[in-house]
Amino acid sequence: VRPNDLAGRRIVITAGGTREPLDPVRFIGNRSSGRQGIALAEAARDRGAHVTLLVAHLEVPPPRGVALVEVGTAAELSDAVAEHAAHADIVIMAAAVADYRPVEVADGKLKKEALGDELTVHLVANPDILRSLTSGTLTPHRPDGQVVVGFAAETEADDERFLQIGREKAARKGADLLVVNRVGWQLGFATESNTIVVLDRTGSIVGEAAGDKVSVAHRILDLLV
Ligand code: C5P
Repeated sequence: VRPNDLAGRRIVITAGGTREPLDPVRFIGNRSSGRQGIALAEAARDRGAHVTLLVAHLEVPPPRGVALVEVGTAAELSDAVAEHAAHADIVIMAAAVADYRPVEVADGKLKKEALGDELTVHLVANPDILRSLTSGTLTPHRPDGQVVVGFAAETEADDERFLQIGREKAARKGADLLVVNRVGWQLGFATESNTIVVLDRTGSIVGEAAGDKVSVAHRILDLLV
């Protein structure tokens, strides 16, 4: 039996990987499948929440019974978070957001005949949506008591260093909870399962979970509740 402990709560969840265009047919992207964010949306919906799912590129279909907003780039996701977080009790930032975007986007296809054997792409940093949300610069208004959850996908193999990176990120991002998981060539993205450690803002471990992404999602929601 599912608890109905999120009944009436407004939850905004970001999921998937943003894509930064180089020209009309090409982009810089990442390997996020969107599965963990979608599992969170399903789990929150099943616990009675009103879910708004802000999705960048997904490898799997979004769930039924949630409000869906589709975006492409980090800038579009930032605008969507600014709009929807203003009315949310809980914001969960599971999307993999591009840290950089091309400075110039070509109007037509980049042509190798014109560019030759080497191509240098100049990138500029995207704003950190999560940090601007928690620092109060993204939206003028945030509901009192709004809870913000961030994610950190790390490749560090050493357990102690992995946790240390998580602790530093927890402090820097200002989220109430930071979900840290390991990713790699064979790990984390296309898989149905996940292993996570959840830290609070001070970097203390408040929970851990391993298993399919829906049960991991319910564990994250348990901690959040
Ligand atoms: O710094 P890093 O990308 O590891 O942080 C991951 C967390 O920050 C995730 O919750 C992600 O959604 C969020 N993020 C963001 N804006 C960015 C980069 C990451 O909101 N430009």
